[in-house]
Amino acid sequence: MSKADLIVGIQWGDEGKGKIVDLMAQDYDVVCRYQGGHNAGHTIVVGDKTLALHLIPSGVLNANAINIIGNGVVISPEALIEEMQQFGSLKGRLFISDKAHMILKHHILIDQAREKLRGAKAIGTTGRGIGPAYGSKIERSGHRMGELRDTEKLAQNLIDYFTTYRAIFEAMGIKTPGFDELKAELDMYAKELLIYVEDTTALVWKSLDEQKKVLLEGAQGTLLDIDHGTYPFVTSSSTISSGACIGLGLSPKDIGNVTGIVKAYCTRVGNGPFPTEDFEEDGKKLGKNGHEFGTTTGRPRRCGWFDAVAVKYASRINGCDQLSLMKLDVLDGFDKVKICTAYEIDGKRVETLPQSLENLKPIYEEFDGWNGSKGVDKYEDLPSNAKAYVKKIEEITGTKVGLISTGPDRKETIIL
Ligand code: IMP
Repeated sequence: MSKADLIVGIQWGDEGKGKIVDLMAQDYDVVCRYQGGHNAGHTIVVGDKTLALHLIPSGVLNANAINIIGNGVVISPEALIEEMQQFGSLKGRLFISDKAHMILKHHILIDQAREKLRGAKAIGTTGRGIGPAYGSKIERSGHRMGELRDTEKLAQNLIDYFTTYRAIFEAMGIKTPGFDELKAELDMYAKELLIYVEDTTALVWKSLDEQKKVLLEGAQGTLLDIDHGTYPFVTSSSTISSGACIGLGLSPKDIGNVTGIVKAYCTRVGNGPFPTEDFEEDGKKLGKNGHEFGTTTGRPRRCGWFDAVAVKYASRINGCDQLSLMKLDVLDGFDKVKICTAYEIDGKRVETLPQSLENLKPIYEEFDGWNGSKGVDKYEDLPSNAKAYVKKIEEITGTKVGLISTGPDRKETIIL
C-alpha cells in the first residue's frame, strides 16, 4: 500500500501552492482536494491559455491523472460547473464525493449579509458562502452532493428549512426561492454533475492499495485554520495536514511526505492580526514586486516580513518533512531584510505562538539584502546573502528547505 503525499500552506494562504502542485501533479496518478471551496484559487498558464482553478484539483492538467474533490470540500455546484467549462469532458478524470456539502445560493447571501452586519468587525471573507455552508454542515442542516440523486426530496427539504427560518431570512433581507425555481436549479446541477459523484473514499483507498501515487492538495493556509489559526479571522475548514484525513476519509497512517509551502516574506488578505505587517515603504515594495493581489477577489494583499515563530509552529502542527520557499526573488533589491524570531508580549520575549496574535510586538533579526536571485535554478548560483537567509529559516524553524522558487516559471526553481 502506498502513502499519500501532501502539500499544505504554512502562512495565511497564497504562499504559491499553485506552482508547486502544478509541478508535482505531473508525477502523480491521483490529485485530491480535501477542504475549502471556491474561496481558493490559482491561475495556470498553459501555452496561450490561462486557466483558473478554484475547486478542480491541479491534476486536471495531467492527462493521465485522476482528480478527486473529497467530502471535506464545500462545493458550489454553480461555480464548479462554470469552472469545468474550461475543459472538455472530465468523465473518468474527475470524481466528486457524494458526502461533500453543497454551497447553495442562500449560503452566499448569508455570507455577504453577515459581513455587512459585522461592520468594523468584518472578517473580510471572500463572500463565497464558505462559512455558512460549513455552518449548515456542523449544525446538521446541510445538504450533500449525493442528495442531487433525488432533487424532488432535496428541494422540499430546503423549502421546509426556508419556511422554518423565514423570520431570520427576512431580517437579513434574503429572498429565498420557491419550489419550482429551486427544483429547476437543482435538476440542472444533477444533470451536469451526477455522473461525477461517487464514494471517493473508496476510490482513494483503492488507489493507495494499488500503489498509485496520490497527492493531497491543501487550500488556504495554516494560520487560517478554524482551530489553530487566528480565530475568528480564519476560514471555516481544517486547513492543516490532519484536515486531509477527515476531508477524504484517510487515516493518519495513510499520509506520507508533507511539504509546507511558505513565502519568503508574509502576506494576508482579509482582516485579522498580522504581527509582521509592514505599513511603510518596505510593505508597499513587497506588494508591488510580488504582485500581491488576491486571485479570487482581486483584493490587494497586506504584506510584511517572514514570521519564523508562526512558521515554526505551522511546520510542527503539519508535520512538515520539508518547506518549499516561494518568491525568494521578490526580496531582491532590499538593503536589509528582516525575520521575526520572537514576539514581545507584556515586556516578555515569547518564541511560541500565543492564543491571540493581537497586542504583541515582533522582535526582528536583520540581515543584509541581495540582488540577482531572480530566475536562479541552482543553489550555488544564489547570492551569498540569500543563502544565509535560507539557512537562517531552516535553523529557526527546524525544517529543511527542499525547494526554492525564484520566479513564476517552472524553470525558475531550485531543487535541493
Ligand atoms: P472565507 O474562507 O471566504 O470565509 O474567508 C475567511 C478568511 O480567509 C478571509 O480573511 C479570506 O480572505 C481568507 N481566505 C479564504 N480563502 C483564501 C485563500 O485561498 N487565500 C488567502 N486567503 C483566503
